[in-house]
Amino acid sequence: MPGERVRNLTSWIFSRRVLIVLAAWIVLSALGTWRHHKRWIEYNASDSWTVVDSMLHVLVLPGWVAAKVTGGNYNAVYSLRWAIIVNTVGFGMLGIGYLVASGVSRQLAAWLRDSARVESESVDIDRRSLLRAAPELAAIAGGGGLVYATLIEPAWIHVRRHDVPIAGLPSEFDGLRVLQITDTHRGPRVTASFIAEAVRLGLAQKPDLTVLTGDYVHQGEKFIEESAALMAPLARAVPTVGVLGNHDWYAGSRRVRETLSAHGVWMVDNDRCFMRNRYALSRDAGGLCIAGVGDLLEDDVEPDIAFAGIRRDVPRLLLSHNPDVAEMTQLGNHRVDLMLSGHTHGGQVSLPLIGAPGVPSRYGQKYARGLVDGPSCRVHISTGVGMSVAPFRFGVPPEINVLTLVRA
Ligand SMILES: [Fe+2]
Repeated sequence: MPGERVRNLTSWIFSRRVLIVLAAWIVLSALGTWRHHKRWIEYNASDSWTVVDSMLHVLVLPGWVAAKVTGGNYNAVYSLRWAIIVNTVGFGMLGIGYLVASGVSRQLAAWLRDSARVESESVDIDRRSLLRAAPELAAIAGGGGLVYATLIEPAWIHVRRHDVPIAGLPSEFDGLRVLQITDTHRGPRVTASFIAEAVRLGLAQKPDLTVLTGDYVHQGEKFIEESAALMAPLARAVPTVGVLGNHDWYAGSRRVRETLSAHGVWMVDNDRCFMRNRYALSRDAGGLCIAGVGDLLEDDVEPDIAFAGIRRDVPRLLLSHNPDVAEMTQLGNHRVDLMLSGHTHGGQVSLPLIGAPGVPSRYGQKYARGLVDGPSCRVHISTGVGMSVAPFRFGVPPEINVLTLVRA
């Protein structure tokens, strides 16, 4: 009967459960929008709020995916209008999902009560209680996963080591310890203190050479000076060589390059330098060559320029932010003993059996992480220190790497 339906609907709308969800929707949407504005539009958020802001961002992630699709590009993240839409829609979807799950579980519990015939009353009550609590239990499990992926794993830096045999490596470089630090992404999502911790951990490995493979700053001119200054302790301690990544281009490639150089990092985008001994870098050819190429997405990739005029018997490392460069046929014309890359972050999420479903590479999971054999050289891909478009890591903790070169 229509009158009864209206009464049922009215009592459902004004039920305590629905009113609580409505109030939470309004409060969380406002909180999410305010925090997003502080962090991504004003660039004025305190580091101590970073994890809270990341969690709020994750909760409305389906809304951000929709914004990226309908808003046309990544710049939706810098728009207040999109922040309001995404937070309102995202938290609305969560609230509706909770109410639907809650209604379904109550119906199931009622059905179980009505159909119980042979089981004892106590077992029946236990099952019904469990079903009724299912949405809350799912929310607690989801909350636990969220805390792990945004708070615990991204802060858990690993040191990964590999020995890399190199034919004809001069004896003075046998056992050279190369520290790779990449994708620090200083910006709204990664704090300066976390990057400083990665640098301290790197120096504790007693490296002979540091290579930096790009994405020092996530985006925003404000972070350029600080992102480069964070690398200065490395350059003061050991020879340090770097190339730019795509995010450095988004922030301003010329300024990032100049600022890193001013802090002592020898930049080799489509260029090279040499270690003629274990203690210093030089322009003069000989010893061990450390070359670099420009970023594949934002710059020219010029191995012919980087390696021009170097004798074939000089062993060499190649820094390339993007590991897909390994597949370029042009690279096959040159001797490369080891290419060092970042960029993929290992996909940031890796699931049992499936692996990493979202690796930013044309070659799927091949260059996601670790030591990989490319068509013409070995490639080491570090999962990096920071985070990019997604504020979480799962199964792919941050890492720094120590590669020991061994005479073969
Ligand atoms: Fe990156």
